[in-house]
Amino acid sequence: MRGWLVVNSFVESEKFAQIYSLLLDAAAAHGISLLQLCGDELCDVVGGGFQDKELPDFAIFWDKDILLARLLEDAGVRLFNCADAIDLCDNKAKTYIRLARAGIRIPKTVIAPMTFEGVGCSRLDFLDKAIERLGLPLVIKEVYGSFGRQVYLARTRREAEDIIEAIGYKGFVLQEFAAGSAGRDLRINIVGERAVATILRQNENDFRSNVSGGARMEPYTPSEAQERIAVDAVRALGLDFAGVDVLFGADGEPLICEVNSNPHFKNTLDCTGVDLAEHIMGHIQSKLT
Ligand SMILES: Nc1ncnc2c1ncn2[C@@H]1O[C@H](COP(=O)(O)OP(=O)(O)O)[C@@H](O)[C@H]1O
Ligand SMILES: [Mg+2]
Repeated sequence: MRGWLVVNSFVESEKFAQIYSLLLDAAAAHGISLLQLCGDELCDVVGGGFQDKELPDFAIFWDKDILLARLLEDAGVRLFNCADAIDLCDNKAKTYIRLARAGIRIPKTVIAPMTFEGVGCSRLDFLDKAIERLGLPLVIKEVYGSFGRQVYLARTRREAEDIIEAIGYKGFVLQEFAAGSAGRDLRINIVGERAVATILRQNENDFRSNVSGGARMEPYTPSEAQERIAVDAVRALGLDFAGVDVLFGADGEPLICEVNSNPHFKNTLDCTGVDLAEHIMGHIQSKLT
């Protein structure tokens, strides 16, 4: 079986390189020939079908270049994950809309009204309404973001105003703060329809529990309800695999925080010894043979 590992052309980071090499190693161990390609090597005329390339049986799409993903699918390549699923996960507002439609529990969320570059939010009536609905403190998240860097906590209306002003014209959501989850959450890694490795992440110094922000991690066995909500989210979003962030709700019930279609699974590997790449290759083989 021949596959491509499609990665971003411009991001150069050790963190990403580690993930690529784990995927390449796991492919080799499964007897799959996996060729790493950057997006710019696939930059071609729209509708041309990548004529100078022999198309693979599948591609692992480890990028957020949704347009390229769609072109590959149009040329007949099966993507893991597929373009629609990556698109839904990349934009947190799209994720929440899809999860709500499927009846999956998320923290109460308000999507900020759309604006334009140079215009920003010139009226903040929606903020007052959001505070009324969600209370304070509340979480503000840019729709595009990772590693907790574009996620903020507003304790007062004034803080929320400053955050919104700094965000400018980019899309964002306002969200109920899950107080029972302050500084802690679960990363449940799903492949197919099963949780293959879960970690509990905790940070005493920040409300965000991203490991890159200094959270400690420990292996964790999810409850049935925690595993079920993560699997349901993956199914609702049309994913083959994902790193699902799950919060502890007020009543102890789990809530979906966000879903990562291209999860950084090196932390999970270090913490649990489970290599997601191995499971991903097994899943691809089971789907294609
Ligand atoms: N509504 C919320 N209530 C409490 N904590 C939250 C909430 N949303 C996010 N967090 C915390 O912030 C972290 C980062 O948010 P997340 O939505 O996962 O964005 P990112 O893509 O940057 O990881 C989460 O892992 C969680 O610890
Ligand atoms: Mg996250």
